[in-house]
Amino acid sequence: MSFPVKEIQTKPFEGQKPGTSGLRKRQEVAVKVFQQEHYTENFIQSILDSVDVKGATLVIGGDGRYFSPETVQTILKIGSANGVAKFIVGKDGILSTPAASNVIRKYKAYGGILLTASHNPGGPDNDFGIKYNVSNGGPAPENVTNKMYEKTKTISSYKIIEAPPVDLSQIGEASYGPSKVSIIDSSFLDQHTEDYKVLFDGLHGVTGPYASTILVDTLGLPPSSVQNCVPLPDFGGGHPDPNLTYAHTLVEAVEKNNIAFGAASDGDGDRNMIYGKGAFVTPSDSVAIIADWAHVIPYFKKGGVKGLARSMPTSKAIDLVAEKKGLEYFEVPTGWKFFGNLMDAGRLSICGEESFGTGSDHIREKDGLWAIIAWLNIIAAANAQSPNKLLGINDLLTRHYTIYGRSYFSRYDYEEVPSEGANALVDHINDALKKNSLTNTTHTSSSTGGKFTISGIYNFEYKDPIDHSVSSNQGQVITFSDGSRVVFRLSGTGSQGATVRMYVERYVEPKAGPAELNGNTAEGLKGLIEVALEISKLKQFLGRDEPTVIT
Ligand code: G6P
Ligand code: ZN
Repeated sequence: MSFPVKEIQTKPFEGQKPGTSGLRKRQEVAVKVFQQEHYTENFIQSILDSVDVKGATLVIGGDGRYFSPETVQTILKIGSANGVAKFIVGKDGILSTPAASNVIRKYKAYGGILLTASHNPGGPDNDFGIKYNVSNGGPAPENVTNKMYEKTKTISSYKIIEAPPVDLSQIGEASYGPSKVSIIDSSFLDQHTEDYKVLFDGLHGVTGPYASTILVDTLGLPPSSVQNCVPLPDFGGGHPDPNLTYAHTLVEAVEKNNIAFGAASDGDGDRNMIYGKGAFVTPSDSVAIIADWAHVIPYFKKGGVKGLARSMPTSKAIDLVAEKKGLEYFEVPTGWKFFGNLMDAGRLSICGEESFGTGSDHIREKDGLWAIIAWLNIIAAANAQSPNKLLGINDLLTRHYTIYGRSYFSRYDYEEVPSEGANALVDHINDALKKNSLTNTTHTSSSTGGKFTISGIYNFEYKDPIDHSVSSNQGQVITFSDGSRVVFRLSGTGSQGATVRMYVERYVEPKAGPAELNGNTAEGLKGLIEVALEISKLKQFLGRDEPTVIT
């Protein structure tokens, strides 16, 4: 098919001088100005006359504001008639400004035309703008924009090809007259910069620069998507641990600014917390959900998933995923080192701990940013399957609980307690274990009336399946007849005195229904926590009424 090139006569318009960010017209008149016959065409032709696009690749994108689709078609017609070899266009003409910058660089394009008026309102009676970016992905420098302006003052004709409009909704490559058009999908986050905000908090630890590079420079999120990302020797006076207590800068900002997806990492970058508006993901659920969605994560798409694992106190949520998917799974003592042998032996791909550690066999340490990016992959994939409703973290949690049931989980930390008290607590439970004095006893929570019958007590011991080494006394586990579990452990990492950790877990089956599955963690565990404190006499031994940290 031949596409005739037509030359259309025109006359210069006044005021086509690009400003700081291209040619913009403001408020009531803006779109109407661009809609005048020949107005937009003149400006596009002037852009192309100022740069040398013959045989080159041109990117077209923008924020999708009113009058963009028409303008994209205009650019295609004029661009093709002027010899552009290839257009790379965002699906539906949409590419965020940083995404367009990234696309120009990635595809080594000659430049790009962006249809946007930034933060200004859009619509038939509002703002519109056309901006040109050069090959480094950045806005055209003044010598280029001046040249464009000069051209607009003397223009007498522009060239177009006569061709039917390109369907901007169809991803893929097509030919268009003498040119090629490639429609690319902008990422989920590009399409939702306003209604799906992301915030990463580096807590002034080591991940700040990595996160800025990945989230802002590579994924093209706005710079407001990262905070506390300058590493400081004193971590800005904060405690660089991503949990609900110490990462309060993240929690507050997420709640205040309606952030759909928030995350933080610790001082050395191996821990992570996932926290969206009104939605805290326990690390136990986090690793289970990553395992459940592994098929959408490129690394596992390629290499498959070998096995799953968790540390003993971590909830059993990931076990249920392994069972459903027919994968081998392991319960190891607390400590990332226990995962290494399994990974080296090719039997473990995804693992995590309740202590905010999540990772995979791509390395042999837990990896905070890895977990965060895994979650972003999952969110993009889940939303791609949900065209009519934007899915948030809470929707993913609800979905998971509906399929697998929910393991309500919480950890109470009693930090810097006297060692004598901590040892007395351990002895007390060991005594009950030896004498078998608690098994089959039933305990009633005075506040909820919930009844819990102890089905057994044991000291967790692990035999490494690969090197057969044995690790004993890795925590005391009290099990209950309804499947609930309470674990007592002394921390191996606290820096002063002893730290006692009490882990509580109560499983609710899918059939219990939405109200039971989607409750508040503290409420869901209230009765069990009361009973655990009573059985262990913890307050008496430790001389503490309340824990230091609850996660
Ligand atoms: C470190 C280890 C983890 C461990 C966590 C808590 O981050 O790498 O494997 O789960 O500390 O250990 P703790 O002994 O204090 O409970
Ligand atoms: Zn760490």
